[in-house]
Amino acid sequence: MRQQSQQQPQQAQSGLEGGPLYQAKLPYPPVKAMCENRTYAFAMLDNVGGNNSEISAVSLYFYNHLRTASCAEIASCFHHVSIVEMHHLEIFGTLALQLGVDPRLWTRSRNQMVYWTPRYNQYPVELSKLLTNAIQGEEKAIEKYQYQIEHIEDCNIVENLKRIILDEQIHIQVFQDLYQRYVSSC
Ligand SMILES: [Fe+2]
Repeated sequence: MRQQSQQQPQQAQSGLEGGPLYQAKLPYPPVKAMCENRTYAFAMLDNVGGNNSEISAVSLYFYNHLRTASCAEIASCFHHVSIVEMHHLEIFGTLALQLGVDPRLWTRSRNQMVYWTPRYNQYPVELSKLLTNAIQGEEKAIEKYQYQIEHIEDCNIVENLKRIILDEQIHIQVFQDLYQRYVSSC
């Protein structure tokens, strides 16, 4: 079995000596849920394939990367951040599987499984709205993970959630910095 979820994605650490940072410098904890738990499994699955989820972030940032191609710095930021989100996706998918559910891009809603859809995302193209939408998505992810931290009693899941929040906070800083330099100053 691959142990990739415990590794840091090399591409995301653009951090060539003082370059921009797209993920926190702390290592990721091991991904090892304590024991099977359907409630926790569905919570992790919702982070994989729900509305407010990592696959929503990956897909939105892929789109934003294409849409901002005329500005290499912004397009590159979305590319690098999307790779960090892919790592989060893998962590949550691994946890969901360990906890006892099939880690497809779906979630449980009203007692049935609902596949993820790109309709969950909004796709503004005007730069100020595109960046604001990205910042709000990160804020909602942090809010969701903080709620889960307060309600989950598996310390490994909590550790992973806390570590992932650190990355999302950096993403907010990255997008806010872009906003300041490309929107506010114009
Ligand atoms: Fe994430």
